[in-house]
Amino acid sequence: MITGTGIVKTFKQRGNVLDKREVRALRGVDFSIPKGGAASFIGESGCGKTTLGRIIAGLETHDEGEIVIDDVAMSSLKPKARQPYFRRIQMIHQDPYSALNPTRTIFQTLQAPLRLRARQTGRDGKWIDERASEVLSLVGLDPGSVLGRYPHQLSGGMRQRVVIARALTVDPEMLVADEAVSMIDVSLRLGILALLKDLRERLGVAVLFITHDVATARYIGDDGDLYVIYRGQVIEHGKVDTVISDPVHPYTQSLLSAIPVLHGLEQPGTQPVVPLSGLDESLSDGGCLFARRCPFHTERCTSELPALGRSEGVPQEHACFYPERRDVVARPMSGV
Ligand SMILES: Nc1ncnc2c1ncn2[C@@H]1O[C@H](COP(=O)(O)OP(=O)(O)OP(=O)(O)O)[C@@H](O)[C@H]1O
Ligand code: SF4
Ligand SMILES: [Mg+2]
Repeated sequence: MITGTGIVKTFKQRGNVLDKREVRALRGVDFSIPKGGAASFIGESGCGKTTLGRIIAGLETHDEGEIVIDDVAMSSLKPKARQPYFRRIQMIHQDPYSALNPTRTIFQTLQAPLRLRARQTGRDGKWIDERASEVLSLVGLDPGSVLGRYPHQLSGGMRQRVVIARALTVDPEMLVADEAVSMIDVSLRLGILALLKDLRERLGVAVLFITHDVATARYIGDDGDLYVIYRGQVIEHGKVDTVISDPVHPYTQSLLSAIPVLHGLEQPGTQPVVPLSGLDESLSDGGCLFARRCPFHTERCTSELPALGRSEGVPQEHACFYPERRDVVARPMSGV
């Protein structure tokens, strides 16, 4: 089980060193991902998804808040003692080519982490060879034809499978897949998503999927949780099916109402579009983070920040003073 409470991260603005402005990438995020579970973070570009993923994988520090892995608070440990915990959370990035060393064969790529593991567990070179073949088979690659090749001799989909195989060498507790299929040929994407789902079922490894695509989030984590992030705040969170079929936050509704209806198979909702009103320059940036774009804002929204919480009759958590079901989502046509 991996949980985060009140995670805050602020960056210095990139670029000019004299520019002292700050970017609030995360503003007090809570999450919880059970052993073998699934979760997805969705939201538009720059909302903080990757930053949160990197913090969870121990690749980035945070300013406030706590990460707890298997009941151990990471703040209670010295940085070196945290490493074994974070090592079991492996990140899969969107570009498999830059994740692999072009001068190493696939065997050499897998050998490096396996050697470390062999040393820790008193195993020999034979075990390394066998395990390298085993992890390639687990990701659907033929070890005989792949082990001796270099990354440029493989397709994008195969390279991403190698990256996943390398992550499996450490027996991970969780894979953090950050837009892991966005740079792969469309025809190969479903195969990678199916693989992640399959690994979850077969190995019991948890999967955290970071994406801006709702359909991907639904496919990967159909029994898991969905966190919708806006400007560093989780603004809606619940079971993926609940949030996708009955969103109550205007931002989630606008994301979902932008998905095209499958012609002949689905019918649009009766209120199919929640238009973002664009930035209302007359409003200050205080209060609800979404107020300047929200078509439903009131005076209260511009002065008070709604916290993530629950309200009566709404199963999912939301950060909106006026959660309301709006029939924005396409539904299967009857008889189809
Ligand atoms: N190392 C950094 N230095 C300065 N600012 C950063 C740094 N990393 C991220 N940011 C800023 O923090 C915010 C969140 O970035 P992040 O990469 O987490 O967003 P994201 O949701 O993953 O976006 P995308 O969908 O484009 O990948 C952005 O405003 C980004 O510019
Ligand atoms: S709190 Fe107000 S501004 Fe924010 S999402 Fe809800 S209705 Fe819109
Ligand atoms: Mg990102």
